[in-house]
Amino acid sequence: MEVLITGSNRGLGLEWVRQLAGRGETVWAAARHPARAEALQRLAARYPAVHPLAMDVGDEASIAAAVAEIARHTDALDVVINNAGVLPEGETIANLRREDMLTACRVNAIGPMLVVQHTLPLLRRGRRKVIFNVSTMLASLTLKHGRSYYSYSASKAALNMFTRTLAAELRPEGIIAVVVHPGWVRTDMGGPAAPLLPHDSVRGMLALLDGLTLEHSGRFWTWEGKEHPW
Ligand SMILES: NC(=O)c1ccc[n+]([C@@H]2O[C@H](COP(=O)([O-])OP(=O)(O)OC[C@H]3O[C@@H](n4cnc5c(N)ncnc54)[C@H](OP(=O)(O)O)[C@@H]3O)[C@@H](O)[C@H]2O)c1
Repeated sequence: MEVLITGSNRGLGLEWVRQLAGRGETVWAAARHPARAEALQRLAARYPAVHPLAMDVGDEASIAAAVAEIARHTDALDVVINNAGVLPEGETIANLRREDMLTACRVNAIGPMLVVQHTLPLLRRGRRKVIFNVSTMLASLTLKHGRSYYSYSASKAALNMFTRTLAAELRPEGIIAVVVHPGWVRTDMGGPAAPLLPHDSVRGMLALLDGLTLEHSGRFWTWEGKEHPW
């Protein structure tokens, strides 16, 4: 498989690269600053099929340049994993900042859609044809009772709706689009109290990815492959 993953320099993204490369997949490992991404560069040195490349998902010119670079080397992508994300901390209605709301939307919702738009010609020629958008349980309207994470929750809820719409439009072409909650995972974002390790979350998401068919498209899944409430 040829896989593009965003935000691959740390956290869940880096673990995705490790597990995909470990089983012999070709990985286009996008990161904002790949030259400075030491752990990613070590994986690239170990696995020749790991290709670090620069992509800021908040910047469309950067997305276009990265996809053009991929297209110079391959004419097809099997899977696009929109993993990059940001979480503005400590928000209340009193201190909510316009810039944080916009950044969350730009990175968590709009960026993934632009990545899909730019990679679509490559995805159409792929064998698997999967768009795997990493969401969160905090985006669930049904489960949302907490008072925190305004920008993050709302931007990921937008990603959920974008993905559902996308799945409907691309279904006739056999392209699968899903949103997935990776669990509460011990990364910089998840923090040290998170019960799940990146290795186990990605192992679960990889099993889900491997089993995806058009039947699963347009739906919200957990890292364990169970349906998540919207
Ligand atoms: N950890 C959890 O418990 C949890 C739970 C639910 C959902 N998620 C979701 O899982 C995904 C991965 O989270 P994580 O826990 O691995 O978070 P993380 O450790 O904070 O890593 C976030 C990644 O996103 C990248 N990123 C941020 N802004 C970017 C931009 N503008 N362009 C490109 N890359 C950008 C970061 O790159 P830099 O190093 O350059 O900042 C980093 O690689 C996110 O979408 C997150 O919302 C995580």
